[in-house]
Amino acid sequence: MKPLRTLLSTATLAVALTAGMAVAMAPTASAGTTLKQAAAEKGRYFGAAVATGKLSDSQYVGILNREFNSVVAENEMKWDATEPEQGRFSYSGGDRLVSHAQANGMSVRGHALLWHQQQPGWAQGLSGSALRNAAINHVTQVATYYRGKIYAWDVVNEAFADGGSGGRRDSNLQRTGNDWIEAAFRAARAADPGAKLCYNDYNTDGINAKSTGIYNMVRDFKSRGVPIDCVGFQSHLGTTLAGDYQANLQRFADLGVDVQITELDVMTGSNQANIFGAVTRACLAVTRCTGITVWGVRDSDSWRGTDNALLFDRSGNKKAAYDSVLNALNAGTNPTTPPPGSPVDTNAWYVLVNRNSGRALDVYNRATNDGARITQWSRNDGAWQQWQFVDSGGGYYRLKSRHSGKVLDVYNFSTADGAAIVQWGDGNGTNQQFRIAESSGGYVRLLNRNSGKAIEVQGASTADGGNIVQYADWGGNNQQWQLVRIG
Ligand code: G3I
Repeated sequence: MKPLRTLLSTATLAVALTAGMAVAMAPTASAGTTLKQAAAEKGRYFGAAVATGKLSDSQYVGILNREFNSVVAENEMKWDATEPEQGRFSYSGGDRLVSHAQANGMSVRGHALLWHQQQPGWAQGLSGSALRNAAINHVTQVATYYRGKIYAWDVVNEAFADGGSGGRRDSNLQRTGNDWIEAAFRAARAADPGAKLCYNDYNTDGINAKSTGIYNMVRDFKSRGVPIDCVGFQSHLGTTLAGDYQANLQRFADLGVDVQITELDVMTGSNQANIFGAVTRACLAVTRCTGITVWGVRDSDSWRGTDNALLFDRSGNKKAAYDSVLNALNAGTNPTTPPPGSPVDTNAWYVLVNRNSGRALDVYNRATNDGARITQWSRNDGAWQQWQFVDSGGGYYRLKSRHSGKVLDVYNFSTADGAAIVQWGDGNGTNQQFRIAESSGGYVRLLNRNSGKAIEVQGASTADGGNIVQYADWGGNNQQWQLVRIG
């Protein structure tokens, strides 16, 4: 298909632009009607812990697919499940979840590489360097196996003690030496450089001795270059919420890590809906809070038995807590597009949504090779739709794919209208560098440094698979993109 402008005479162009403006002035994003839609409009994911055995329960799967765009294995990626005998790895449960996620456009949190609980019997019987070596090997093997498929790994889970000490929990892993946590993070980074690496814990919901102990560890890791990207707050909550819940998230974010609510569930009662709403608002108020995961789908799926601690009742109906979360998500301000004049965040991941089609910039067929075509596709927030702005200096950026690690590239340094935009290994060439030009309404155009041309959806297609090409910058809606921050 030819680029839009070649299809139009000068006379009809004015008509087309006027029509485009009418579209631009139409109301923007309406309130989300599902958790995942409302969260995505705020640049967040909304996830659930899944027991893979329930993926054959149609009611369960119906709710999961309708409401959630992130999953985590409730048990299937833990040490006892993935390495039942030393050196024999078993990925069937985890694979089932990853397949379901990929087929349904969901991201996957990985839980958990190392934990003092749910260790296989053989590991419980080890100590000293034998245990340390086995643990690090476990991290390496599992993170390597799932490389490229995991949004964030809980590398270490629940390593701090409850109570007032602020210190580490005693465990067989801790007894191998205090540096076991950083060794695990380094091994995880080497195995899967694309995954965010998280420390995850509970009873960390306010500023207290335990959360402060973790805070000090994260600060130390950041100062010494130990690779850590995020902190998970499990948030298994009772009938009250710490007044400094948001402030606690914020102090971690201020250390330069993302924060996530990773296992949210709340005791039933008159305060349940309020607490769910307050947690949601706190996450939205912290720019680096990238998403919320609830620890199960229906009350009947919860590890908390009769606490009825989730968003759907035992028959799969939405509870008041659900409405509270959805309303909080819809009420939040939209932080997804950098305000005019402000630079993009080079630590963030963005989905680029085309103004004309509403579809997202997408590495076609999740390819990882040089030269793979870039298209538009219905937004699913998969890693193949996520892009990072890598600073090239002088106001130019490369756009790096989270999925492939490759960058957008005007094929063969072409300066022609209609030349293909592909992905290619990052060589920081001028054909890989783009500057951000502002259009109205928070939309931007992306102009190539070598050609001066804009990234556009060829022919103003609105179809999945529409080609992405460069074309002279004329400001059409098919050349305008919303940068939706999602991580
Ligand atoms: O699969 C077996 C089944 O064959 C057996 O008959 C049955 C007997 O009770 O046990 C089943 O395994 C149980 C498994 O859940 C699956 O239901 C385990 O005993 C049980 O220990 C396990 O509990 C899990 C728990 O972690 C383990 O400590 C819960 O499902 C899971 O929700 C819970 O999740 C943890 C997070 O990983 C970390 N944060 C706290 C959170 C809640 O405890």
